[in-house]
Amino acid sequence: MKTSAIALGLLAAGAAATPAGPLAPRASSSSLPTVSIKGNAFFAGGKRFYIRGVDYQPGGSSANEDPIANADTCKRDVAKFKELGLNTIRVYTVDNSADHDECMQALADAGIYLALDVNNPLYSINRDKPAKSYNKVYLQSVFATIDAFQKYDNTLMFFSGNEVINSDKNSNCAPYVKATDRDMRSYINARGYRKIPVGYSAADVAENRMQMAQYMNCGPDGARSDFFAFNDYSWCDPDTFEKTDWSQKAKNFSSYSIPLFLSEYGCKENTRTFNAVSALYDTSKMTPVYSGGLVYEYTEEKDNAGFGLVTVKSDTEVTDKDDFTALKKALSNTPAPTGDGGYKTDGSPSKCPTKSSNWDVDLADDELPAMPDVSEYFKNGAGTAPGLKGGSQEAGEDTVDNAPAASGAVTTGASESGSGSASPSGSKGAAAGPLAPVSFAPMVCGLVVLVSSLFGGSLLL
Ligand SMILES: *[C@@H]1O[C@H](CO)[C@@H](O)[C@H](O)[C@H]1NC(C)=O
Repeated sequence: MKTSAIALGLLAAGAAATPAGPLAPRASSSSLPTVSIKGNAFFAGGKRFYIRGVDYQPGGSSANEDPIANADTCKRDVAKFKELGLNTIRVYTVDNSADHDECMQALADAGIYLALDVNNPLYSINRDKPAKSYNKVYLQSVFATIDAFQKYDNTLMFFSGNEVINSDKNSNCAPYVKATDRDMRSYINARGYRKIPVGYSAADVAENRMQMAQYMNCGPDGARSDFFAFNDYSWCDPDTFEKTDWSQKAKNFSSYSIPLFLSEYGCKENTRTFNAVSALYDTSKMTPVYSGGLVYEYTEEKDNAGFGLVTVKSDTEVTDKDDFTALKKALSNTPAPTGDGGYKTDGSPSKCPTKSSNWDVDLADDELPAMPDVSEYFKNGAGTAPGLKGGSQEAGEDTVDNAPAASGAVTTGASESGSGSASPSGSKGAAAGPLAPVSFAPMVCGLVVLVSSLFGGSLLL
């Protein structure tokens, strides 16, 4: 959540193929079915997939640590994820030069997928300087993260950004988020990787919630997100579906055509009973529109006290808070629906929002910041991963040309499912068109209001 306004049992289908017994080879991560999208829903192994997860950020956002590069603490926590009955964790920061095989395998063995943010404070869109921070050095890091994680079948999705727009005063950063989102999907296609869903995790800004969602799902195909998520802390126990604005949001999003879910939820104002869980997976309430959500957050953190489910004691031990027991009970009382949950296949893309006092996007519906020349990465891969060193925020120019929204976008080439192996021959994708800036329209992200004092800085994850 970082700068959000409140700062204020899945089974491994193929696992049984190996003989049981102490000498049996470990099931590989490919024993989990990959997740794909149909209409406004996720599917795995032919069944609708609902996200039942937690946000995993031990050390807090300020630590900027990779929690899944440490196999020991990862395994300590995977046991707890399993106890909670989770199928997904979200990780906000990874070191794309580190080895994640052991943790990803432990997660896969437990039936757990990874929803991954590709940004970190060094490599991200800076809402103070969106044009300058949208550049080739940044995209190389993003692409290197995709390279590192596309090979795991339990990589569920990539987040192109988190809460970059966090008030009604900085929506002029939205084109850079959408451009990054487009470039990620293009890279996956160009490399012939598995079609891993890409989308944005938005702050729940009441003034432009709908516009943000519509914006990511409007315009030409090559520029539209695969899914949309937002962080929602408005349900505070003992609230009910009808008493919160969740019922109205479900109505407002009823014709949204791509999967929607809560990338963070879990208000901590009162004693948490996680009543929201019963509505989130209820076919008469939210599943026609929503595909589950992620509770913020697994570990109790000093810089964001009160949200944790467990308290970390040591590298081998955590203790349960009451919140852990409450979430475990809520999830076990509310299994995922068995049917299709009322999802829709016949939705149309959204109309792009019009400029208003709350939505400050000047570009035409079919324009976005021009993609930097990343053709060498599309052809050969991202190359050496920078890890959590260096940085990209100052590597660009003060202005970025605009271009047709899908110019340079690669819209085919990814595989629907599969082993996740990279295309050895490089790009298989067909570019939708050459990079062709049509106008020189400098974009400046003007007044920036940081809603949170907790995280004070202008770095975005
Ligand atoms: C639902 O949509 C209406 C009309 O656009 C808007 O005024 C209202 O704020 C929205 N409600 C929520 C909770 O998003």
